Amino acid sequence: MELIKSPKLLIACLFLLSISNGFAAEEEKFDAAKAYQASCFACHGTGAAHAPEVGDIIAWEIRLEKGLDTLVQNSITGLNGIMPPRGLCADCSDLQLKAIVEYMLEGSQ
Ligand code: HEC
Repeated sequence: MELIKSPKLLIACLFLLSISNGFAAEEEKFDAAKAYQASCFACHGTGAAHAPEVGDIIAWEIRLEKGLDTLVQNSITGLNGIMPPRGLCADCSDLQLKAIVEYMLEGSQ
C-alpha cells in the first residue's frame, strides 16, 4: 500500500488517530459539575432571573412533575425567553445537557 511506503504519512495518520481517540475520551469524562458551574450556576446557583435554584427541593419537585425528558428538552430549546437555549453552553451536546440537569436534580433532593 502506498501509505505504508511513506513513513511521514503513516506518522501523520497515527497522530490524527490518537487525537480523535483523545476526543472520545474527553466525551466520556464529561464533568457535569464543572459544566454546571461554568454555564448554569450564574442563574441556577443564585436564583437570578427567578431561575429555580439548585438546592430548592420544592421548586425542582414541581418542575420534575413534567418529567425529566421535558426538563431536558426545555434546557435544549430554552424556556419562556428567560432560560436561554442550551443554558448558554453552546458546546454541550443534548446528552451532556441531560447529565447537567440530572446533576442539578441530584443537588435538589
Ligand atoms: C440566564 C440565566 C440562566 C442560565 C445561564 C441557565 N438557566 Fe436554566 N433557567 C433559567 C430560568 C429563569 C428558568 C425558569 C424559566 C421558566 O420557568 O420560565 C430556568 C429553567 C431551567 C430548567 C427547568 C425547565 C422546566 O421545564 O421547568 C432547567 C432544567 C434548566 N433551567 C437547566 C439549565 C441548565 C442545564 C443550564 C446550564 C447549561 C441553565 N439552565 C442555565 C435561567 C437560566
